[in-house]
Amino acid sequence: MKIQLASVDVSTTQTDCLIIGVRKSGDQSPSARKIEKSANGLIQSLIKSGDMDGSAGSFVLIPAPQGLKAKRLLLVGVGEKPNADDLFNAATVAARQLCRTPSVSAVSALAEISVADLDIQARCRIIGQAIHNARYRFTQLKTTKGKGGKSGQSALARVTLLSPGSQQSAAAKAGVKEANAISSGVNLAKELGNLPGNICTPTYLAKEAKKLVRSHGLKVKVLDEKQMKALKMGSLLSVSRGSREPAKFIIMEYHGGRQGDAPVVLVGKGLTFDAGGISLKPAAAMDEMKYDMCGGASVFGALVAAAELNLKLNVVGIVPSSENLPDGAANKPGDIVTSMSGKTIEILNTDAEGRLILCDALTYAERYKPAAVIDIATLTGACVVALGHPATGLFSPDDKLAAELLECGDQARDRAWRMPIWNEYQKLLESPFADMANIGGRTAGAVTAACFLARFTTNMSWAHLDIAGTAWNGGGAKGSTGRPVPLLTRFLINRASKR
Ligand code: BES
Ligand code: MN
Ligand code: ZN
Repeated sequence: MKIQLASVDVSTTQTDCLIIGVRKSGDQSPSARKIEKSANGLIQSLIKSGDMDGSAGSFVLIPAPQGLKAKRLLLVGVGEKPNADDLFNAATVAARQLCRTPSVSAVSALAEISVADLDIQARCRIIGQAIHNARYRFTQLKTTKGKGGKSGQSALARVTLLSPGSQQSAAAKAGVKEANAISSGVNLAKELGNLPGNICTPTYLAKEAKKLVRSHGLKVKVLDEKQMKALKMGSLLSVSRGSREPAKFIIMEYHGGRQGDAPVVLVGKGLTFDAGGISLKPAAAMDEMKYDMCGGASVFGALVAAAELNLKLNVVGIVPSSENLPDGAANKPGDIVTSMSGKTIEILNTDAEGRLILCDALTYAERYKPAAVIDIATLTGACVVALGHPATGLFSPDDKLAAELLECGDQARDRAWRMPIWNEYQKLLESPFADMANIGGRTAGAVTAACFLARFTTNMSWAHLDIAGTAWNGGGAKGSTGRPVPLLTRFLINRASKR
């Protein structure tokens, strides 16, 4: 579904659901005032009766509202002096409620609400993304009908955001376009993430990548194990040896810039199931390790968004993909492997496999002479302990790149928080037998994982995003979040506009 921008008359529009923002006090928006006129002071009387107080995120759903042509009126509180959080909360509540109704069409006037520090473009983007997010359901493996089944998908098919005055409509249009493109990327990342390990194998991911040639004009190349062997990707291949599914090395290129422009390279961990290998994980919640390819999925998503936005820059996406299982041929603790860089690695814990597949992908990335390299990985449980679920862990020796990414996270409401990657931590990775060990001991697990990767990126501008806490929700609302596609897309948009 694509969201549109149009100017319609809220009193006479024949939509299934009309969404109006209501201020707690003071001046109401033009649309709210219009509704007051057509619907006989409805909003004021709801405020008087105590059924609506206008606080951010409160709502009232009115079926068959008198005096209007809409089938439903969804009034959503935006608070006193709405800030970005208020608008986000109101947009999220509105979108969720909308998707609970049987509405096929909807018109939202929420973007009319003026918000401190948010221009019309950002408002349209936030409102649009909220609708796409609320509408998403993973239904492709359901066979039953009904609410929890295949038709659990919301019926919503046509959403219009009310266009503001003509001066602002170009900016509004850009915001809606960004929302649609980012959400295409987010939805793809969610869909790939939610698929189980028996379906979403490295081979499956490679096939999905090849589909992006026709659908989005990407250039895609997939290396098989033989080709990886020729490239001496001994570290990646050592992980894949523990599984019957062959590894795939997926390379996707988006050419939106000039030929010869140094590309941004995104490297995403595509571990389609992580059982830990011989250092087997405990059984509890092990199913969630199907999400260990979410870094890779976010690279797919960011490339799709970049292509849909026609961004004027070059981007390369690299997704090393493998399973991590305990086969007879699997890595054993103490094994020493040689990476593509030539550096040797003592594998003290086979469950620290993400860095083993990423290091060879980072070495491969060198050949692009990249403007910047960002890797994205569900790399450590320690990052979840450190930051919980709100923030992605950001690690980079490059202060400028780190600041740029933090800013993008803020802009996209997909935030990251910087963690240290000082040389002081490097000694934790020392090995008596090889150039380095693949784990650093009990402390600072997220940092030592980043420090391991840093050893393979000394000649590039590089940042690492640990998304172990942000890529999916566990528990009752289990599901992929599509993060950090919004952050990555913002980074690409900003880089393209700086050129
Ligand atoms: N994919 C996991 C990281 C992970 C674990 C993400 C739990 C989200 C939730 C990664 O491959 C892993 O197993 N890391 C180990 C590293 C340790 C052995 C040094 C971890 O975090 O326990
Ligand atoms: Mn692991
Ligand atoms: Zn893993």
